[in-house]
Amino acid sequence: MTEVLTQQAVREPQRIRGLEMPWNRVMGSAETPARAARALGPWHPQEFMAECVETIPEAGGLMTFVFRRGDGAPLAFRAGQYVNIAFPVNGDDEDPVDRSYSLSSSPTQPWTFSFSVKRDAAGAVSPWIHENVKPGTVLDMLGPVGAFHLPDADRRARYLLLAAGAGITPIMSMVRTIHSLPGQADVVVLYHGAEADGFAFQRELDHIASVDARIRVHYSLGDRGVPEGWQGLRGRLSAAMIDEVAPDANGRQVYACGPEGYLNTATELLKKVGVDDTSIYMEFFTGNRQTLLEYQQEIALASDIAEEIAEEIAESPEEYFESQPAAFGLYEPGYDEDGTLDATGLPLEAAGTEAAGPVAAADPGTPDPSGFTTVGTGSLTLSFLRTGVNVRIDPSEHILEVAQRAGVRIGANCKEGMCGSCKVVKLSGDVDMNHQGGIRAREIAAGKFLPCCSTAKTDLVIDA
Ligand code: FES
Repeated sequence: MTEVLTQQAVREPQRIRGLEMPWNRVMGSAETPARAARALGPWHPQEFMAECVETIPEAGGLMTFVFRRGDGAPLAFRAGQYVNIAFPVNGDDEDPVDRSYSLSSSPTQPWTFSFSVKRDAAGAVSPWIHENVKPGTVLDMLGPVGAFHLPDADRRARYLLLAAGAGITPIMSMVRTIHSLPGQADVVVLYHGAEADGFAFQRELDHIASVDARIRVHYSLGDRGVPEGWQGLRGRLSAAMIDEVAPDANGRQVYACGPEGYLNTATELLKKVGVDDTSIYMEFFTGNRQTLLEYQQEIALASDIAEEIAEEIAESPEEYFESQPAAFGLYEPGYDEDGTLDATGLPLEAAGTEAAGPVAAADPGTPDPSGFTTVGTGSLTLSFLRTGVNVRIDPSEHILEVAQRAGVRIGANCKEGMCGSCKVVKLSGDVDMNHQGGIRAREIAAGKFLPCCSTAKTDLVIDA
């Protein structure tokens, strides 16, 4: 009899209704809300130093880096958010290179946190991270950042989590968070990968799915060859596949992260199966060149034009990369004279603009914008010194949009003031900047700003 009861209890766990993040209760504590809030740390980006305490190799060429804050405080974040990290790729005397990485750990275990980096042999930063970041490495961070995260409370926590490739990172944080919390939830994870043994976190995901009846995990191998014995799904994301794993998709909140091509497809398919726009949350920005590279690969594979592209690049790198922004939409890749793709706008920083700072305008070698061609309409003027153009703008318009329309090349990813990739130096004038953590206080003091979330208050001279 005892055995029957025990089995029943295991089969049908009694849970509280819905899912609620633990900090809700702490913050809502009527007696000492202020103290509770301080203990948890503010819910807005802050600058802090953190020390690596562990590195864990993952499948698919990823490495997980576990960190703890140098000040001993927990890192308060929401599952799905990311941090901006400064990597001293060129040595301690040079400007560090910023990259953003989604947190893969759960905020319910806030004393350490982790992010995972996929090694891209052709990348400038990820190989350096894999080789140099070890236990004891201290890095400068800014975060948490990002609007892509689970809600703080959900009475009807029913989710469809879609991930492709390295896009599993924030989804992993969500799965770990839900698994660690009490409360009713119904979670379907659909994870696309390119190789049978390349699914990062697979052992942990399988374990969670085996002990937590609320969470189901499906793997799909896309269409790049399925080895014998493969038990998972086959093929790229399709409406039929969504229907198969989550026939009730239109009653779920959908969180998706992966390469841009994958997310664009997902958007279309989700509409097809009846998921309302307001229930779809996407993370287009995975924080490094990976997204852009994967998207390029998808295009090359799908249309079999890799050869053609290689020839075009060989003939004229400048012309080829000039033609990309429209095709790549969000990513607007920049390039340097070697034709190197870089979605972060780093070439602008690499040119030593920070050191020049606001005094650069006085440099005798600085071009005089009064001789530049002026384009556009508006009551104020943006002078782009390197591009050699004056662009008219109205005070209500965002600077990045107007600049890009006028042909000024500024790398940009999130376009919401979060990722820092559009950062440029303002040599004179005032802006109204509404950022969400994509820039540090000392960078603002050095004259930098984020044109994607800024409007002009006066005429501006910009080093771009
Ligand atoms: S594009 Fe991300 S901060 Fe401007």
